[in-house]
Amino acid sequence: MVIIRVEHLVKHYGNLCAVDDISFEIMKGECFGFLGPNGAGKTTAMGIIYCFMPPTSGRVTVFGLDVTLQPSMIKARIGVMPQDDNIDPDLSVLQNLIVYARYFDIPKKASSPRAWELLDFVELRDKANVNIKSLSGGMKRRLLLARALMNDPELLIMDEPTVGLDPHSRHAVWDNLAHLKVRDTTIILTTHYIEEAERICDRVAIMDNGKIIEAGTPAHLMARYGGNLEDVYLRLTGKKLREEIA
Ligand SMILES: Nc1ncnc2c1ncn2[C@@H]1O[C@H](COP(=O)(O)OP(=O)(O)O)[C@@H](O)[C@H]1O
Ligand SMILES: [Mg+2]
Repeated sequence: MVIIRVEHLVKHYGNLCAVDDISFEIMKGECFGFLGPNGAGKTTAMGIIYCFMPPTSGRVTVFGLDVTLQPSMIKARIGVMPQDDNIDPDLSVLQNLIVYARYFDIPKKASSPRAWELLDFVELRDKANVNIKSLSGGMKRRLLLARALMNDPELLIMDEPTVGLDPHSRHAVWDNLAHLKVRDTTIILTTHYIEEAERICDRVAIMDNGKIIEAGTPAHLMARYGGNLEDVYLRLTGKKLREEIA
């Protein structure tokens, strides 16, 4: 079953073409990663898929629903982990989850146990009542992941989920994603970490200058172009991706 279908998607910001005619499909249960340097157009493409901004042209459907025509029906069924953390600093960890649940009309009776369950999942139970300001970067990313899961989404969209994290937090997020994959959650993410793409993505699209240069399973790309994924990336883009520090 196709979950995301993108056909000839183009996005302009004034004269700048951020996404330049990309097309792809993502199937149910797949983890699909966009790999590319800063400015490639990854965040823009994600933003259109999660109905944050409209395409300039082309067609994008999620669950068969058009992002420009049925955004609220799509938003109810997806979880979004944005690139910049937009956690409410005036609320505690637990309150952030409960308040977020209101956007989905989840009643308090259901949202409270759900929030605790997710705090366990991301190992933040002991931080439930602390102030956001005292969380480390890794803890904030894990809270964002928990928040994105409050409505039990069929599709999880993550923009640079582990950027700037220490190795422990990064591995913790990867473990979380592995559990979600077992439960058949479809995942689309952006990254500029080769190791992240290799470890958790079933397929990757290599993106640069608004275009998808190549897409396929990591094994397929490595067999076709030789070397590891980093070599493939260098060969196709002429650029070096950031080194991984795991
Ligand atoms: N809101 C915006 N207004 C104008 N230009 C933007 C905006 N957002 C992104 N851009 C530009 O679009 C291009 C793609 O950016 P982005 O989608 O954020 O790429 P990535 O996530 O791969 O780093 C960049 O050149 C960026 O400067
Ligand atoms: Mg980005």
